[in-house]
Amino acid sequence: MHPAGLFITFEGIDGAGKSTHIAALAEAFRDAGRHLTLTREPGGTPLAEKLRELVLNDAMDPLCEALLMFAARRDHLQQVIEPALARGDVVLCDRFTDATFAYQGGGRGFDLTVLRQLEQWVQALPDAAGLRQPDLTVWFDLPPEVAAQRLAGARVPDRFEAQPAAFFERVAAGYAQRFGEAPARFVRVPSNQSKEAVWQAVRTAFEQRGWLRAAETRA
Ligand code: TYD
Repeated sequence: MHPAGLFITFEGIDGAGKSTHIAALAEAFRDAGRHLTLTREPGGTPLAEKLRELVLNDAMDPLCEALLMFAARRDHLQQVIEPALARGDVVLCDRFTDATFAYQGGGRGFDLTVLRQLEQWVQALPDAAGLRQPDLTVWFDLPPEVAAQRLAGARVPDRFEAQPAAFFERVAAGYAQRFGEAPARFVRVPSNQSKEAVWQAVRTAFEQRGWLRAAETRA
């Protein structure tokens, strides 16, 4: 018998500081003896990584962009996420469908009805068993102007990072809307505070669900 798989996703606008906390959480789960699958979207399989290159760098219209995000997601679910969950892994995935609703829906203003339809097709489980959704989504909620300051000059921006401030305002609103539609699936972590305070909030959310033991000393 292996433990039940766990599907955890991480969301937030660019600059919100996801990567550090994903790495820390991976270590905490390893310490707890769990097998991990660490992955990201768009990407996570050879095909999806090719689609990532295209979607982050080549000009295209919003429908094309949304279709490629979901095409990459379909391959990722089939090749990596579902097999890992079946093995009992903890799957830590840097972004998932909430990012499509926030960036393509909010940021680009693309039709949410179409995104919902794509979500239904791509995340359908076999035998009409419903939709694959994360067991928990950690949303690093950061005011867009703070994220912009953090990102300024940090690296060569991709097609999304190069967008103006108004785009990130809409992305942030897109995340807030998604959160409002399914608050039980999310933990919202206010991220305009020290890295240590953000990490404590993340760690506590996992302890409260019984997924990690309470740390004796907190970093
Ligand atoms: P990101 O996690 O920021 O990668 P990195 O830290 O390496 O830059 O993700 C890449 C970008 O892809 C990010 O700007 C958000 C965008 N994105 C979408 O627009 N839609 C999606 O569905 C996903 C998963 C990501």
